Amino acid sequence: MLQDTHNRIINYVRLSVTDRCNLRCTYCMPEKMQFEQHASILTDDEILRLMKLLAFDGVSKIRITGGEPFMRPGLITLLEKIKNIDGITDISITTNGVLTKKFIPALSKLGIHNINLSLDTLDGQRFTQITRRDKFAAVMDSFNTMLSHDMQVKVNMVVMENVNTDEIVDFAKLTEHQRVAIRYIEEMPFNGQDKGFSGVSWDYHRILSAITDYYPLEKLTDAPHSTSLNYKIPGFNGTIGVIPAYSRTFCGTCNRLRISATGSLKTCLYGNNMLNIRDLMRNHDFTDMHIRSGIHAAVKEKFIDGKEAEKHYLTGIMESMSLIGG
Ligand code: GTP
Ligand code: 5AD
Ligand code: SF4
Repeated sequence: MLQDTHNRIINYVRLSVTDRCNLRCTYCMPEKMQFEQHASILTDDEILRLMKLLAFDGVSKIRITGGEPFMRPGLITLLEKIKNIDGITDISITTNGVLTKKFIPALSKLGIHNINLSLDTLDGQRFTQITRRDKFAAVMDSFNTMLSHDMQVKVNMVVMENVNTDEIVDFAKLTEHQRVAIRYIEEMPFNGQDKGFSGVSWDYHRILSAITDYYPLEKLTDAPHSTSLNYKIPGFNGTIGVIPAYSRTFCGTCNRLRISATGSLKTCLYGNNMLNIRDLMRNHDFTDMHIRSGIHAAVKEKFIDGKEAEKHYLTGIMESMSLIGG
């Protein structure tokens, strides 16, 4: 079992399967993003070996992230193999929706019904401004296909001052007829550019009050390790969530660790890369036992919360979310 010194059990891994992306969201990366060499990215065999070791130590939930996960060739085959690992009971995926449509039947067949879709606007032109790519139609097509396949879709909207705050209520309205979960995310500094980030101007209080100006919100019970505070508009089918990703109010129950596309392990989004597991796996002197000990030792150093971790964070805002995986 992986347990930190604050009595938290780590049973959830966020695995970035590629740093490549077919969008260039302004809050995530610069237009001219420098991607990693292919040889630096974990291979399928390396991912499977690592996931087996983590499952052996009690990890049961895996969220596949990127970059854009479907940019990785052969992702469905890899997912099939991850699904067969003893102890892995929950696989979910976070995608931008550009390529997702054609994989939906395969995901359904694999029993992957939870998809988190990044979508920050319902306006095509604005989508192109935010993502620097003209892919709105493809994303909406995937979104509608997911809903028609009865997938549990959570829409992630990063709330940005002077960009999309006028659409907060429009997103909430989507929950009237659809069983979708709309989640508003506080913007975080991980944009891969050394451009200053002076704190979040739309924090979760402000987001919630923009909604309650229009709709009453009924509080729902949050799942034990939820990053979102969840609500419902009475009479509507879907749900509303706010993710205090910058305020970091949910750290006390954190059960996560992260593996980047290049095999770096982070025990906190706002923390340092603790260990490169790819390097250990590529060095034949290191056995499974060595790798497991390295992971256990890193988990023991997990800080109590993201604010504490940030004080020791060396790379800081230079990092892009596309490598970390969100
Ligand atoms: P589930 O709980 O499995 O639905 O996943 P999630 O909501 O955590 O995952 P998703 O990939 O949809 O992420 C939504 C937002 O939450 C993203 O902006 C993530 O970066 C953020 N997030 C997820 N985990 C953490 C965390 O440990 N710390 C912080 N600060 N933000 C997080
Ligand atoms: N701030 C907040 N959320 C972000 N994401 C990517 N970059 C940022 C950022 N700087 C979100 C994406 C995706 C999720 C994994 O992380 O929108 O839905
Ligand atoms: Fe791609 Fe996601 Fe980053 Fe947008 S936020 S550029 S979709 S990895």
